[in-house]
Amino acid sequence: MSSVNYSEKIPNNVNLVSDRTLQRALEHWQPHFIEWWKAMGPSDFQSADVYLRTATSVDAQGWATYGTVKMPDYRWGIFLADQQAERKIGFGDQMGQPVWQQVPGEYRSTLRRLIVTQGDTEPASVEQQRLLGHTCPSLYDLRNLFQINVEEGRHLWAMVYLLHAYFGRDGREEAEELLARHSGDADKPRILTTFNEPISDWLSLYCFTYFTDRDGKYQLKSLAESAFDPLSRTCRFMLTEEAHHMFVGETGLGRVVKRTLEVMKELGSDDPAKVRAAGAIDLPTVQKYLNFWCSSSLDLFGSEISSNSAANFANGLKGRPDEGQYEDHVLRSSIFKMATPAGIEQVPMLNALNEVMRESYLKDCEIGLKRWNRQIERAGSPLRLTLPSSRFRRTIGAWAGQPVDPEGRMVSKEEYEKKLYSWIPSEADRAFVHSLMHKVVEPGKMAAWIAPPERGINNLPVNYEYVKLH
Ligand SMILES: [Fe+2]
Ligand SMILES: [Fe+2]
Repeated sequence: MSSVNYSEKIPNNVNLVSDRTLQRALEHWQPHFIEWWKAMGPSDFQSADVYLRTATSVDAQGWATYGTVKMPDYRWGIFLADQQAERKIGFGDQMGQPVWQQVPGEYRSTLRRLIVTQGDTEPASVEQQRLLGHTCPSLYDLRNLFQINVEEGRHLWAMVYLLHAYFGRDGREEAEELLARHSGDADKPRILTTFNEPISDWLSLYCFTYFTDRDGKYQLKSLAESAFDPLSRTCRFMLTEEAHHMFVGETGLGRVVKRTLEVMKELGSDDPAKVRAAGAIDLPTVQKYLNFWCSSSLDLFGSEISSNSAANFANGLKGRPDEGQYEDHVLRSSIFKMATPAGIEQVPMLNALNEVMRESYLKDCEIGLKRWNRQIERAGSPLRLTLPSSRFRRTIGAWAGQPVDPEGRMVSKEEYEKKLYSWIPSEADRAFVHSLMHKVVEPGKMAAWIAPPERGINNLPVNYEYVKLH
């Protein structure tokens, strides 16, 4: 059931060969995808040999098979987690009924929208990161970037499969549109703002993979609960790949902090100017990047009070991440106490689910902070990194446009404007970070602003030649 047929044009574990029409439609989309990859994927490096993992089955043995491939030859395929026998709807008004193997007519456009919105983020992130290879801090990091990129490409395949298989002509049109919108494009931008922010330095990449891929994890977890079983199975398998993306973010930021602490020790000073002059990224600048990407990612959860998320939950389309951990799965009679600029509001729990998700996301974000702060504490520095308040710099929901500082305190508009660039990166901060970005491609060597990783990929040494450039 779960093994992947690699003799086919499109590797898959969905028995694609049994549905000729679907197979033909996807084989028609495939060259468009490859064209997109060549035009909008990693700039250059298409002929490099990259040490990548590819799924050969969705079980523990096969999902991470390592080998050297050129990226355009990567076997992007369609993999769904195995079907669970007798799976029942786990939440909402139809709880306990069998899950759906087809899309119910009344939810068709909503489900399509959910899938398109998720699908749009996947190629968007590849586009955002396409120039980073030119400034990689090591071959190890370059390989990790490309691993993320090919997997985001595969996540696009995952959503395109659902659109083609279950949404007829509309689905096929949406699949084309997913290749036609581009990150940051003035006429045809990607759907969500965060996915139009340029990522032009590696500190931003680590923040993006730490915060924004983690939003992805929460979205996928909530869609994995869906009563639409093919969507659930697709997202369950995507989550196994997603973990590596957040690993790159967490360890990347940890290595930046480690290197900065070493430089602070050598200097006997935490003076940002001195740390910068020594070629490392001072901790206040790291904090600004955390503030920027965390607040930007918080908007992805949507408005605090949302009738859409209420309907999606009640109808069984989108649950809460790890729905099983909760006691009440219907939520028709519970209330959420929501802090808004006007004070505490009593909101029906069903309408507060975006906020519930945002809160559990922020708890998950704390894990890395604790780790980095332990490093800082051990180094004897009184500095600490923190997450910004979920009210800071929001552009969606109850706190949108409110002058709130990173601690969550309401300040005057003047103060907010005066201090904003002491909270998020200024042009000068970005220029400084950019000035550090130079390509390092000697096996085992690291750029001066980042410490080496603790171990290599798949038990290989750190100085392994993870990308062979030609
Ligand atoms: Fe993804
Ligand atoms: Fe990801």
